Amino acid sequence: VKEINHSNSSIYINESFENLFDYINHIKKEEAFYLIDENVLSIHKNLFSNFSNIISIPSGEETKSIRYVNNIIGKLIELGANRKTFIIGIGGGVTCDVTGFIASIFMRGVNFGFVPTTLLAMTDASLGGKNGINFNNLKNILGVINEPDFVFVDYSFLKTLGYDEFLNGFAEIIKHACISSSNFFLHLEENANDYIKIVRDANNSSIDKLHNIICESIKIKLKVVDGDKNELNKRKMLNYGHSFGHAIEARHGIPHGAAVSLGIVFANVLSNKLGYLKEDSLNRITNLLERYNLPVDISSFDKKELIKWIEKDKKSSGQNIDFVFIQDIGDCFVKSLSIQKIID
Ligand SMILES: NC(=O)c1ccc[n+]([C@@H]2O[C@H](COP(=O)([O-])OP(=O)(O)OC[C@H]3O[C@@H](n4cnc5c(N)ncnc54)[C@H](O)[C@@H]3O)[C@@H](O)[C@H]2O)c1
Repeated sequence: VKEINHSNSSIYINESFENLFDYINHIKKEEAFYLIDENVLSIHKNLFSNFSNIISIPSGEETKSIRYVNNIIGKLIELGANRKTFIIGIGGGVTCDVTGFIASIFMRGVNFGFVPTTLLAMTDASLGGKNGINFNNLKNILGVINEPDFVFVDYSFLKTLGYDEFLNGFAEIIKHACISSSNFFLHLEENANDYIKIVRDANNSSIDKLHNIICESIKIKLKVVDGDKNELNKRKMLNYGHSFGHAIEARHGIPHGAAVSLGIVFANVLSNKLGYLKEDSLNRITNLLERYNLPVDISSFDKKELIKWIEKDKKSSGQNIDFVFIQDIGDCFVKSLSIQKIID
């Protein structure tokens, strides 16, 4: 097992869920409350057979809403949760976001931890302390920055993850490579066929072979977050592909990872148009996304319409938006840009 300590969080990578309480021995198994993604709960029910205080979290982006948060808090109270309660979120990015959000406001905040069960949550959503929910379809408009006590990564959950969900995870992994590591990008290029083969039949393959890219992605995310937890500065780089990505996700109901892939292409085209990114690097990134079977065709999207969503995004202020440009693979920068300039 690999253990990383990051600010107040301990991150345990590649350990079996059955051993969770050996690592977090200050928490009593029978006293903790568990918010578990409904699919994880039904597919892996044997793992939770002797757990009490389980609340099933409906699958889907709609769960990141005040209505569901309300509902889940009602269940916590009904089951007797109190201000000493420890909450453990087990699921993908949706469950992690909802768990972190609820734990941060429940009784003015209780401690919490994550067991991410999707590739996207293991490599991105469970890390860094952002816990947001949506409002009126606007992504992550309500939220807190508050790190979990622990993140516990058990690869065996991935054996039951659907192929498309792996691809969503690859989108954020590729994003991490684009913003900070040309070597990692090269590795993803050279091994694309192998990784796709592994996840096509995850149940029968050696999922541990994803270890290197999971660790590298975690390392990059934590490094960028480090020292800029509140996103005043370099953390903004993690929003690469997310201005258009969030707009596409909200407007078209496309899954997060796939929307980020399209958002990356939008960001690259703009970076190229403004003279920052060379055509061959732009093509290399598009090709890599395609090799991981992610969508890259932005021709059918109405840019003007997406801009309306971008204007409402957190990253915009007045007529300007903090936009993440890329100038080379592994090298991004943030620049305030007038929204008009994106349209032109
Ligand atoms: N807080 C952050 O820093 C951050 C970063 C990136 C993304 N996010 C958020 O994460 C969300 C996307 O997360 P996601 O891609 O994990 O989606 P998700 O949580 O919706 O999970 C995807 C699907 O996989 C199912 N599932 C989960 N684990 C499984 C398993 N082991 N086996 C079988 N099925 C399983 C779920 O039921 C769901 O249907 C978005 O809302 C996005 O905004 C947050």
